[in-house]
Amino acid sequence: MSRKTDAGSFVVLVVDDEKNTREGLRWALESSEVTVLTAANGLEALEILRQQPVDLVITDLRMPEVDGMQLLRHIRRDMPHVAVVILTGHGTIENAVDAMKEGATDYLLKPVNIDELGLLVERIRRTQSLERENIELRERVQQLYGFENIVGRSAAMLEVFEKVRMVAPTRASVLIYGESGTGKELIANAIHQNSPRRTKPFVKVNCGALPLTLLESELFGHEKGAFTGAVTMRRGRFELADGGTLFLDEISETAPEFQVKLLRVLQEGEFERVGGSQTLKVDVRIIAATNKRLDQLVQEGNFREDLYYRLKVVEIDLPPLRERVEDIPLLVEHFLEEFSKYYGKPKPRVPPAVMTALQNYHWPGNVRQLRNVLEGAFVMSSGEITLKHLPNEIHAEKRSENYIRLPVTASLEEAQRLLIQAALTYNRGNRAKTARQLGIGRKTLYRKLAEYGIE
Ligand SMILES: Nc1ncnc2c1ncn2[C@@H]1O[C@H](COP(=O)(O)OP(=O)(O)OP(=O)(O)O)[C@@H](O)[C@H]1O
Ligand SMILES: [Mg+2]
Repeated sequence: MSRKTDAGSFVVLVVDDEKNTREGLRWALESSEVTVLTAANGLEALEILRQQPVDLVITDLRMPEVDGMQLLRHIRRDMPHVAVVILTGHGTIENAVDAMKEGATDYLLKPVNIDELGLLVERIRRTQSLERENIELRERVQQLYGFENIVGRSAAMLEVFEKVRMVAPTRASVLIYGESGTGKELIANAIHQNSPRRTKPFVKVNCGALPLTLLESELFGHEKGAFTGAVTMRRGRFELADGGTLFLDEISETAPEFQVKLLRVLQEGEFERVGGSQTLKVDVRIIAATNKRLDQLVQEGNFREDLYYRLKVVEIDLPPLRERVEDIPLLVEHFLEEFSKYYGKPKPRVPPAVMTALQNYHWPGNVRQLRNVLEGAFVMSSGEITLKHLPNEIHAEKRSENYIRLPVTASLEEAQRLLIQAALTYNRGNRAKTARQLGIGRKTLYRKLAEYGIE
């Protein structure tokens, strides 16, 4: 009944209880690029479909056992990528129309016109190969430009992705800088997950949360009796991370004494447990994160310069969300999708006015704050998120009112006039305040108001 398929060729399965129809279609379709399989009824067809890949099923409707309609439903449910074309006589067009409603791609009238058949098969073949290309392309883009769960298409984020891709396979230390909630930990994780160390531990230490002595024993471990309370020996995070990655969060908050010890591990890969004399060796890749500018702390003498250079072999700067507002719609989509799965409730619509409000807000807490705001709105909304689901500060902030837009072709005089006018409005007509804000004397302001004819 069936024939072996060549890899890469387009496979058509013809299902009809009349042998003549089957063989006729095989004769019409078979070529170097098209392989034709045949089955005498729906049951046989399902059997073949379970055994080998098929691109297109051309099926009669009325057949014994499983009929064409049942076959169609099976295929739509279990093999959504397989196209189905219905064969029908002139008397049974309504049935073909029903089949189209159930997801058939098209129908052909019997007796089959060979040219029509050829065109239809060619069209389906092209559509499917385009779809396949699209899927491949999407996967490639995802590989090239994104990491699982990290959303962004702004130039700044694409640059971050590029750096992550370059640095992940190496063992270079990475310093990640970004305001709170910009995704530093997410990026650190992505670096680890895309490195050869991915099967080994990713260990996180929040350096800001612990006082010096605790931080030391946390990182390096301690021997039994090293200090009061050290009743047993304890391994530190460095040992636990052996072979993997150690993520040092809030590195700017560490004390100078600690920085010296850290530098030694980074340079020599060696350390001792607190209260111990045995030197331990580990193979650990370091990723550090900070929301303070370390270069400034170095200049002010508050961070060791040698450690700074050790840590920032590669530096990744995560821009604040307000500087990449084009990522906001993507993030909104991403988070609503996540909440929809988590809460088992359909994803609400986000009308343009709401999206604009989200894009205008300055997001001091960055992506984390956006996620929290959306979660609140998601829970409160049904079907659509409206402005009233957003916290007051977000829709109250109409940044546009405090900004002026200028064509770059404007004259300096025109720019001055617009700025003075806007400043006066902003200060509700208070001239003293306006002059102070503009950094000019009151008399100068009066003169300019008269000159530009501003009331
Ligand atoms: N580009 C992004 N795509 C998807 N989710 C993101 C992105 N950036 C951040 N997030 C999410 O935002 C939240 C905050 O991210 P993360 O904890 O990595 O930030 P952080 O910079 O380490 O913050 P902090 O400085 O407060 O420690 C997390 O829930 C994270 O999953
Ligand atoms: Mg963090």
